[in-house]
Amino acid sequence: MSPESRVRDAYRGLGRGDRFHVAVRWRSCPFPEVEKHVPRAGRVLDLGCGHGAFALYLAVTAPERAVTGVDVDEAKLASARRAAADADLPVRFVHAPDGALPAGPWDAITVVDVLYLLGRAAALALVADAAHALAPGGALVVKEIDVRPRWKYELARAQEIVSTRVTRITEGTGVAFVPPGELEAAMAGAGLTVERVPLGRGSVHPHLLFVGRREADRG
Ligand SMILES: C[S@@+](CC[C@H](N)C(=O)[O-])C[C@H]1O[C@@H](n2cnc3c(N)ncnc32)[C@H](O)[C@@H]1O
Repeated sequence: MSPESRVRDAYRGLGRGDRFHVAVRWRSCPFPEVEKHVPRAGRVLDLGCGHGAFALYLAVTAPERAVTGVDVDEAKLASARRAAADADLPVRFVHAPDGALPAGPWDAITVVDVLYLLGRAAALALVADAAHALAPGGALVVKEIDVRPRWKYELARAQEIVSTRVTRITEGTGVAFVPPGELEAAMAGAGLTVERVPLGRGSVHPHLLFVGRREADRG
């Protein structure tokens, strides 16, 4: 069974709404492309993990990763825990009602399609906090939506407005995609060496990935 099938299969026993949401995430987000940039071992935090599909995928693709998912939404975490248990995957899911970052240090922190829900200032502050919670040699992997090309951005924005305001699938204060340059500057300002990785060619979603690395201890 492929890693993707194993993760999707983990949700087989859950309700139709959960299965639908996870299926949509797999179609709209290039999880395998993002996963390639996450260290293959160590303590990994998936911040804003939602139903946990990406956190489970991180564990399936590299069992040396000790994965923790955190979210503000307890209902999604309950689904994530159930899926992890059904698939017999040792992933922890932790509730952070106030959105606080669990204490590190972490060898990797992933933030996949979360920042646009927080508002610009809070998003930039969270990125800086995450950077500071990394162990030496650790990586911060941030997947967001680019604001260019404009039509793709407007499409993604419309979809997210439906998720947050109409179907209320996603918790958040609103939809405010952070300009990529500001995101990159916040990561660099927190001491990371930042790489911008092109993603999602051929997709209608203008995916954007930043990988920030904290220098390893010398000696
Ligand atoms: C679009 S979903 C993405 C979920 C998951 N990362 C994925 O890729 O499928 C955004 C998630 O961020 C969560 N979220 C919003 N604000 C948060 C915060 N301050 N701290 C942690 N999670 C948050 C929401 O509850 C939601 O589950």
